[in-house]
This record gives sequence, C-alpha cells and structure tokens, in this order.
Amino acid sequence: MEELSGGRKSAIYRDDEVVYRPLQSWSSTIHLILKHLEQENVEESPKFLGINQDKEILSFVAGNTYNYPLVGAITTNKALMSAGGLLRKIHDSTVSLLDQLDVNAHQWMLEPREPFEVICHGDFAPYNVALLENTVVGVFDFDTAHPAPRIWDLAYSAYCWAPFKTDSHDKLGTISEQVARAKLFCDSYGATESEREQLADAMVQRLQALVSFMRSEAENGNSSFADNIEQGHLQSYLNDIEYITENKNKIQHALGN
Ligand SMILES: Nc1ncnc2c1ncn2[C@@H]1O[C@H](COP(=O)(O)OP(=O)(O)O)[C@@H](O)[C@H]1O
Ligand SMILES: [Mg+2]
Repeated sequence: MEELSGGRKSAIYRDDEVVYRPLQSWSSTIHLILKHLEQENVEESPKFLGINQDKEILSFVAGNTYNYPLVGAITTNKALMSAGGLLRKIHDSTVSLLDQLDVNAHQWMLEPREPFEVICHGDFAPYNVALLENTVVGVFDFDTAHPAPRIWDLAYSAYCWAPFKTDSHDKLGTISEQVARAKLFCDSYGATESEREQLADAMVQRLQALVSFMRSEAENGNSSFADNIEQGHLQSYLNDIEYITENKNKIQHALGN
C-alpha cells in the first residue's frame, strides 16, 4: 500500500487501482454524489466502490498530479480550458441529483448555500485534478462538495487557477496574466455575463467563508485547521482578499465579453 502525498499526511493510501480515504460524518452524502456522477457518465470522477472499516474505497483516477507552485503542464492554457470545461460538466450533471435531494436531510462538510443551483465540488483547484499531458482528465477530493450557486464554485476555482494568490510560494504571473487566465477559465466554463460581473465579489465572499470555516474548526478543536492557521494559511487568504479587492476593477473589466 502506497501513501498518497498532496493532501493530508497519513490519511490517503493507494493499492493498485483503488484508493482508501478516511470516512467522515458527511461521507455517505459524498458517496451519493459520486454514484450519481458515475450514472451520468462523468468518467473523470472517482467511483465509489465501498467501505472498509473506517475507510471509503474509491477508484484511482489516473494522471499526473500537481500542487503550488504551479509549474509545467498545469500552467498551460490547455490545462486551464479543460479544467473550466470539466467544472461545467460536473455542475451540469448534478442538477438532476439536486432535483431529487432533500439538502437539509444530509450532512455536509461545507454549509449549503442558497440558491441551490448545482452541487459544487468545493475545492476544484489545481491540486485536486489529474492531467494526461496538458489536459485535465480527472478530479478527486469531493469531501467539500455542497449545494450552492454555480458562481460559488466558479469563483473559488478561478481564484485557485488564475491564481489570485499573493503568497511567494503560490503566486504565478502578473495581475494582467492572472485576469487573462481567469477569463479563459470563465470562457471554458461558459460563464454568463452576470456571473462574470459577480466574480470578483464572489471570490472575496468565498474566501471570507473559508476563513470563517477555518477559524470555527480550529476553535472546535480541529488540530489540522489550527496547524493551518499557525502556518500562515489563513493570513494568506486575508492577503488575497485584499489583493482581489484592490484589483476588482481590472478583474471585472477583463472578464467582460
Ligand atoms: N481517487 C483518487 N485517484 C487518484 N488519486 C487520488 C485519489 N484520491 C486521492 N488521490 C491522491 O491523493 C492525494 C490526497 O488526496 P485528497 O483526496 O486530495 O485528500 P486531501 O483532502 O487530503 O487533499 C491527492 O492529491 C491525489 O494525489
Ligand atoms: Mg486534495
């Protein structure tokens, strides 16, 4: 059994074509989503295969994986465009599940946010996808999935892929390059005029929600979030909120069609 890096330490293991991940209180909800995506022929997502004691068993999604700082295939326009297209495909596929789901009867890691347009992945970032050459062919880590408007996921993904990050380890390119990448992501997603207009504000709101979530998890004794805050990740999000706010006009101007 091989430990998979790129996420939590000592938590995710691979055995040939299968991945073992820790079961959480919301896992049964995520399994419903993964089963639905399989029925809808979204071959890019892991299949739910079963449960073994305190682990969920998922199919291994083949491909190369990346993390910040973004270097190589993950920085190409082709990767960006295929990512935007895949996010759209996942969102569209979840509409029929949401129609038949009583959102409040299920547990979620991240709080559902109205209006419930789609089920958002919740962390559709370069470190949660798999590539073959320059094309995104897979996505994993659905724990953060939750019902929300499309813009909620589009905003966080554009933030991660542009990326509008200021941390010296995570940053890539100039503001002009970042807004051009955000536009390409929105174009590939097929974002509406109204979604483009809302994007900068939605990125800020999404990051504020993330900061509140990290604080409340840490206060409730979740040590990995306390460590995260200790390591300066929360401060980085606050810095990025400031950066996006300062550049709001540039972002909005560039995103328009
Ligand atoms: N189904 C999967 N197929 C392929 N790789 C996976 C799969 N699940 C997880 N991984 C790998 O394990 C790493 C950590 O798993 P992930 O599900 O992202 O958990 P975390 O919540 O800790 O980020 C990922 O970055 C990826 O490289
Ligand atoms: Mg991950």
